Amino acid sequence: MTAIAIDGPAGAGKSTIARCAAKAIGFIYVDTGALYRAIGLYMLNRGVDPAKAEEVRPLLQEVRISLAFEDGEQHVLLCGRDVSQEIRTPQVSMAASGVSAIPEVRSFLFSLQQDIAKRNNVVMDGRDIGTVVLPNAQLKIFLTASPEERAKRRYEEMLEKGQKVDYNNVLSDLVTRDYNDSHRAVAPLIPAENAVIVDTTGNTLEQSVAQLISIIQNRINID
Ligand code: DC
Repeated sequence: MTAIAIDGPAGAGKSTIARCAAKAIGFIYVDTGALYRAIGLYMLNRGVDPAKAEEVRPLLQEVRISLAFEDGEQHVLLCGRDVSQEIRTPQVSMAASGVSAIPEVRSFLFSLQQDIAKRNNVVMDGRDIGTVVLPNAQLKIFLTASPEERAKRRYEEMLEKGQKVDYNNVLSDLVTRDYNDSHRAVAPLIPAENAVIVDTTGNTLEQSVAQLISIIQNRINID
């Protein structure tokens, strides 16, 4: 099996770019952020503060998470219910960032992610895929862009979905999440030593996808 790890900060376009690239090379696309979001959602629904390890930890044994793939699209099932849409709100983003700093949450999701990569050719996107989850991935990409550009993309994406948001809130949420994600004690967001750094600032989506596919084609053999 072949694994391509794509890590980087929130809003760098990882999911869209990785999804398109995976489709082009016939790999499945795995969005690991959705797993942390599902745990964040579970904690919010249970009225627990997602950032408080002592509150989150005891509830982990009740959480059932699995991924299903339909026509190449990933669906996240939380205790049997498809929550793929519900996890895309700003509240759940923050909750995901909170739970993701808890070591027990990370180890809870670790084998689930490794299992998928054992059974499929994957493009897996997250924060610690190249550093922790799939350290032997054949190719590691660190995808980034300036905070302002990432906030602008997020903002436009949310407006398109009809969500009412303020650009400055999106930017400050993103800066907070960047800080949390890169300063946590376990599996902080840092490029793997042998990662290819790709900065998508100023690129169109098509340019970034083309750039990623060309790096993949240069680095690994795809039948
Ligand atoms: O990629 P995303 O915005 O859906 O991720 C949601 C949160 O989950 C983000 O704040 C960081 C965390 N995360 C993580 O810690 N490790 C991963 N492999 C993926 C996401």
